[in-house]
Amino acid sequence: MGITRAGVFRCRCIQPARLFLRLNSSVSGASKRIKVDGVEYNTDPTFTNVTKSIISHTNKGLHLNDQHPVGILRDLIERKLNSVDNVFMPYNNFKPVVTTWENFDSLGFPANHPGRSKSDTYYINQDHLLRTHTSAHEVQCFQDLQTSKHKGFLISADVYRRDEIDRTHYPVFHQMEGARLWEHGDLDSLKRDLEVMEKALKENQTHTKLLCVSDAPAIDPEENPKQSYMTAPEVELTVAHLKRSLELTVSEVFNRKIESLREMKVANVPTELKYRWVKAYFPWTAPSYEIEVWWQGEWLEICGCGVIKQDVLNKAGFKLDSTMGWAFGLGLDRIAMILFEIPDIRLLWTADERFHRQFKRQTITAFKPYSKHPGSIRDVAFWLPEGTIGQEEEIHENDIMEIVRDTAGSLVESVKLIDSFVDPKTNKKSLCYRINYQSMERNITNLEVNDLQKEVVGRLIDKYHVTIR
Ligand code: DAH
Repeated sequence: MGITRAGVFRCRCIQPARLFLRLNSSVSGASKRIKVDGVEYNTDPTFTNVTKSIISHTNKGLHLNDQHPVGILRDLIERKLNSVDNVFMPYNNFKPVVTTWENFDSLGFPANHPGRSKSDTYYINQDHLLRTHTSAHEVQCFQDLQTSKHKGFLISADVYRRDEIDRTHYPVFHQMEGARLWEHGDLDSLKRDLEVMEKALKENQTHTKLLCVSDAPAIDPEENPKQSYMTAPEVELTVAHLKRSLELTVSEVFNRKIESLREMKVANVPTELKYRWVKAYFPWTAPSYEIEVWWQGEWLEICGCGVIKQDVLNKAGFKLDSTMGWAFGLGLDRIAMILFEIPDIRLLWTADERFHRQFKRQTITAFKPYSKHPGSIRDVAFWLPEGTIGQEEEIHENDIMEIVRDTAGSLVESVKLIDSFVDPKTNKKSLCYRINYQSMERNITNLEVNDLQKEVVGRLIDKYHVTIR
């Protein structure tokens, strides 16, 4: 735990696949330096796992486009939270390469945290990576707050994680981070700000009421303890302000969706919005929570949050014990997919005008699919090289995903492990992956798919020395 898909989720290729292949060659090997956003970095053969196709996403800025579902959502949340008392400084232009210190150490991630592994994270070299979450900028933004009239900040940015391939996962997605500070012990300001927030929340529920079906106590001494430098009333008020702020966010976003469903005369539109608070763990907050919303028959994780650890504030240069506050991190893409009824996450990255012309600033509208192009399935079954089972060299599922993604780009809809076994006689392990090639924009030919599949198989053999069955 500690890094969720807040948690989270998460191309556009009308070019012929062949050309795409050439553009997507992996970065390691021949080229010793990589350029990202105009800055050159040394590569490191034991760390570098970022590919050109991933780097090509670093200047897309979907969250900056206020006529794109991700940008519309970012804009709605930013406006709502700042409409209350206008204390948040927005940061929407941070570049995605950060140091391992910023992404992990500054936030107290232990050395052995799985989030640091090369199978989960895109490394440029040993010291630089593509941020895996917007929390990587917290310390920097807290530093800025010391000399600013603002009392908090809202960051939005693209974040990068190596992951599986399916309709809801993409290696690049977007998060929004928020934080707000008070002087330690200034209960009067905290109480005043809480009243203002409670009023804003009440006023926002004109059409649909929020209904809390289970709450997490502010402090659970055993499992979600407070930090010793804060008193119980300080924590309770800070947490109340945090919870009301996120409830306001949920209320704003889902009420707008519900209103738009009503306008479209959709049947069975919910009349109330159920949500719950659950305790959580993040290395840089204590206590910590998550808020989940009941939507179309399931609990949807919206956001992780908590009371900022004193150590993070100290790293940003605040005097010991001088400051207290909260932080949250919310995944934008998955919520955008639900609000705008987008069935495949690749659509968020399309350049197709039939997608883009459907969306308007500050408006939630349901996406109308323009066509469905047939998919084409190919399986690849192979034996892993002997002696690698259970060892560090054993091929990781995300490595397979990366090869397919780097070869086929946006022409791959999903990759699934459909069979895995160890032959008891030879002790050799076999894996079988099913790849569905499908484009959001056009029909792809069998010839093209065969070429892509051949390339995937070739790269599996070259890089991981597998034996095709
Ligand atoms: N960075 C976390 C993630 O990627 C989300 C998060 C949780 C951000 C708690 C926060 C926080 O600022 O306080 O899942």
